[in-house]
Amino acid sequence: MSLTDHWNDRYENNPESKLSWYQESSPEVDFIENNVGKATPIIDIGGGLSPFVHELIDLEFTDLTVLDISEFALSEGVRKAEGRKVEWIATDIREWTPERMYGLWHDRAVFHFLTEKEDQKRYFSMAAEALVPSGYLILGTFSENGPEACSGLPVARHSITDLTAAIEADFTVIDTSIQEHITPSGGTQEFAWVYAVRN
Ligand SMILES: C[S@@+](CC[C@H](N)C(=O)[O-])C[C@H]1O[C@@H](n2cnc3c(N)ncnc32)[C@H](O)[C@@H]1O
Repeated sequence: MSLTDHWNDRYENNPESKLSWYQESSPEVDFIENNVGKATPIIDIGGGLSPFVHELIDLEFTDLTVLDISEFALSEGVRKAEGRKVEWIATDIREWTPERMYGLWHDRAVFHFLTEKEDQKRYFSMAAEALVPSGYLILGTFSENGPEACSGLPVARHSITDLTAAIEADFTVIDTSIQEHITPSGGTQEFAWVYAVRN
């Protein structure tokens, strides 16, 4: 099964609220509301069915993009957006080249699926190239104590120290935290969150 089929299958055959990464709302949105102008171009990498983009639509952000490998998830996003303008990009992040600049790059629970060092390196160079100076990177990924697999796929786990070292040539880290995500089945998953500004 291709990776695209894997993710389409996950979304098509499981209720959204039973997916291990499900959460009702996105705490990162508070930071965005307080620090970013409404016309700032914002991209959510691997947005899936996340409420993130819909919360930003409701707050009247006007330049929103969601990228995901699953066309099924994106089609659900289109339906929920009810005609509000969002750019939807169906692609594998590892094969994508951004065609414009963004003011904020958001990724919750996607980067850890890049298990190859080369893909991780390319991901951060791509984010650095696609972000305007002073643009924000918000990344939430499994910490060194996080699960070893997710959605039946292997993952790479990262400490805040390692994430900081990986981006510090291009970014200034402004905030970090470790957060426990409680899954719908009651398990816990430790996430490392990094907020950084493009130099
Ligand atoms: C664990 S889910 C997280 C979804 C969403 N960010 C959230 O917090 O609810 C991972 C998402 O990344 C997408 N994804 C996985 N690998 C990807 C890749 N290589 N390129 C683009 N999207 C990918 C999946 O389709 C899925 O929507």
